[in-house]
Amino acid sequence: MEREVRTTSDGSKTLFISDLNESYHSHHGAVQEAQHVFIKNGLNLVETYEINILELGFGTGLNVLVTINEFLKTDKNHIINYFTLEKHPVSTAEVNELGYSNLFPELRSAYTEMHSCPWNKTVEILPNFYLTKYECDFFDLPELGLPKIDLVYFDCFGARVQPDLWEMPLLEMVSETMNTGALLTTYSSKGSVRRNLKELNFEVQKKAGPPGKREMINAVKLHV
Ligand SMILES: C[S@@+](CC[C@H](N)C(=O)[O-])C[C@H]1O[C@@H](n2cnc3c(N)ncnc32)[C@H](O)[C@@H]1O
Repeated sequence: MEREVRTTSDGSKTLFISDLNESYHSHHGAVQEAQHVFIKNGLNLVETYEINILELGFGTGLNVLVTINEFLKTDKNHIINYFTLEKHPVSTAEVNELGYSNLFPELRSAYTEMHSCPWNKTVEILPNFYLTKYECDFFDLPELGLPKIDLVYFDCFGARVQPDLWEMPLLEMVSETMNTGALLTTYSSKGSVRRNLKELNFEVQKKAGPPGKREMINAVKLHV
């Protein structure tokens, strides 16, 4: 499927798939959305010393980038193990055209490294920040043998284009990887997703969404 680079309202770029009329990020602002959904309502709410993050899917690497950016603001005394899944990796030409390193110039080498490092192998991108990218389908998750996850970035394409990714089978697989008390954050606020998560024993909260979106979901996994 053809992808093209587009500029969003905050000046940062995203990828757009015209066949699906779907973009990788909000056209109201890619970086703003990532910061709001995954950092403010994600990473910043988790207090454990060692944090295991699971992302669906890796895409442009923007969520890894904003996570590293936030990680470097802390006392650097903690550890992040970031696991991310992707079936259709972006090309080097797309990475260059997106120009995210210009937005985070001090993270230029980390951004290059996260895209050039091998798949299916753990790499210490920065001291105490470990990245493992899996080139696989989301439904392969149970076979990856991940440690228990503390924070999930549920960043699939919308239910309009990939409805199966927001239904019980995948949500249940994700839930089974998570620790009690772990947080799942997503830009979606869809009613059926909230109901599915409640059925899987999550405490579901509606939060204010990023620019251009009224609401989003935070869901905390109750006892296993
Ligand atoms: C909304 S984009 C993710 C954006 C990404 N987090 C970023 O920061 O750029 C959704 C991603 O899921 C990937 N994807 C779609 N279906 C998939 C599947 N069944 N298994 C694995 N990855 C899939 C797409 O290729 C795309 O990169």
